[in-house]
Amino acid sequence: MKIVLAYSGGLDTSVIIKWLKEKYGAEIIAYTANIGQNINPDELREKALKTGAEKFYFEDLREEFVNEFILPALKAGALYQGKYPLATALSRPLIAKRMVEIAKKEKADAVAHGCTGKGNDQVRFEITFKYLAPELKIIAPVREWEFKSREEEIEYAKKHRIPIQITKEKPYSIDANLWGYSVECGILEDPWEEPPEDAYQITVSPQKAPSEPEYIEIEFEKGVPVSLNGKKLKPLEIIEKLREIGGKHGIGRIDIIEDRLVGIKSREIYEAPSAIILHTAHDEIEKLVMEKNLWNFKKIISQKYSQLVYYGLWFCEFKKCLDRFIEESQKYVSGKVRIKLYKGNCQVVGRKSPYSLYIEELATYTEKDIFEHKSSKGFIDIFGLPILLEGKREKLEK
Ligand code: ARG
Repeated sequence: MKIVLAYSGGLDTSVIIKWLKEKYGAEIIAYTANIGQNINPDELREKALKTGAEKFYFEDLREEFVNEFILPALKAGALYQGKYPLATALSRPLIAKRMVEIAKKEKADAVAHGCTGKGNDQVRFEITFKYLAPELKIIAPVREWEFKSREEEIEYAKKHRIPIQITKEKPYSIDANLWGYSVECGILEDPWEEPPEDAYQITVSPQKAPSEPEYIEIEFEKGVPVSLNGKKLKPLEIIEKLREIGGKHGIGRIDIIEDRLVGIKSREIYEAPSAIILHTAHDEIEKLVMEKNLWNFKKIISQKYSQLVYYGLWFCEFKKCLDRFIEESQKYVSGKVRIKLYKGNCQVVGRKSPYSLYIEELATYTEKDIFEHKSSKGFIDIFGLPILLEGKREKLEK
């Protein structure tokens, strides 16, 4: 038996390699993708092979992650429950898709992951596996194995000489990629406790951020960020730069109670400087160029879209239909946004677009005004007619 395993090099996936070999007598192909989480592939390779994997695959998927997953979500305005930019959720279908491709190439029989039985990620991985390759067996060791605690796992690792770094007990579970960090566990499980500073990995506390604001300018073309401070850059470069700039100013810290797919409410901390800055800027261009019915309707689409992504339904036909609507809606989403970053705040201070529907002569209260004030009387008479009739009826009832 051959198994392709989503491998991170942490305690769980290290123990999984050995456990799968013992339980299934299997050959293990460890798979790791670079999606912007800061890893050293050489170290990982060495570790995976030492732990017992027969093969190690490493791929840089950052460009694909940005172009095929992050940008569609940005255009969609996808923020789960209005807040979470979906960094973890977006990465799962991509990793699962590549694992299936490798499983086919290697003629593997199964795919495995290290997700727990009470999270969302197991669902996201497995739905994608089933959609792309229903013939592959799916193994979720953490859901099945006998270890009841981290200590038991460490015990097992020691017994089998699995190379693990037992540094001082890491109190958090962190999932990291380009689009943001997700942090949970430890003291964060008490929703009344303020997250300690050490829960945050890539943003400084707003109190410690520079006391001078920083202005940035982002340009969009058809909903895609194309330049930063006047310099043409790839979206990946813009995201990487904004992570640094935003992090320095304490932008993008999110502390929420969210509804997991499995029914549990959980408390999670997110750090997503680039996602928050880009969503803020993108939404601002949309406000400038979109007719109001379209803008309002798109908000409904955003909500539905973010749920589908969160639920692991990235490849479903419904989401693909929404993508087509969203793509069409981005036709005029081009222009520039000026943003002021200051002590955790990301404030839009300027916006312009060649397709702007903002007409100063219509909006102004000066002598430049061209709006036909007198027409408003007839407009109100007709627009207000239904409510006028209701008012009359209420008086009859009394
Ligand atoms: N709650 C987030 C999601 O379901 C993140 C999950 C992973 N979080 C973590 N800290 N390991 O998308």
